[in-house]
Amino acid sequence: SRAIKIAPSILAADFANFGAECRAVEDQGADWVHVDVMDGHFVPNITFGPATCAAIRPHIRGVMDVHLMIAPVDMYIEGFAKAGADIITAHIEAGPHIHRTLQAIRASGAKAGLAINPGTGLDGVENLLDMIDLVCVMTVNPGFGGQNFIDMTDKVQRLRALIGARPIHIEIDGGMTPQTAPLMARAGADVLVAGSAVFKGGSVANPAPYGENIRAI
Ligand code: DX5
Ligand code: ZN
Repeated sequence: SRAIKIAPSILAADFANFGAECRAVEDQGADWVHVDVMDGHFVPNITFGPATCAAIRPHIRGVMDVHLMIAPVDMYIEGFAKAGADIITAHIEAGPHIHRTLQAIRASGAKAGLAINPGTGLDGVENLLDMIDLVCVMTVNPGFGGQNFIDMTDKVQRLRALIGARPIHIEIDGGMTPQTAPLMARAGADVLVAGSAVFKGGSVANPAPYGENIRAI
């Protein structure tokens, strides 16, 4: 398999067909499936919660990568773990006690991800490196698919240096296209989330474009 993993975001899929959409993108070469949970409070949009994740789970063979854009977080972690999330990512901006949140994620049995918005620096990340498996560097302000890429090359390069030899993924989320993805891979990212760029032009009935789009990123 290639060095860079592609994690299609089902935010850009047909919400009435999540099961079939997950099977289709995996058949077409997706490495992980990225699941965007939004609460209408931490971000100005609402998607779905643990019950939908549990319903999707049997339709994903590989990694279910759950990105929580919610506040508060802690009271919902167990529910997403029970729903079968392999990775649970919480935002450093979502509350005053991210250390406790990450402890709770690991205690739930899931891998722990830490997401940072475009306006957030790496200061707070440094103290958390020994309790995380992934850093999600947002390259849009979270809440919606299809937004323009915000260049975080410098942040990703500094993060890669900070991580050193630790086994921590750097995931990029937002605005990934065949033009922007190589910039982030070169800067040190190894997982690229892509929603609109993967699902455009295809459907469950016509999934081949998903594969072409994945290979083009
Ligand atoms: C943004 C979400 C992203 C989004 C990416 O709030 O976290 O995962 O779906 O969508 P695109 O690839 O369309 O920018
Ligand atoms: Zn996301």
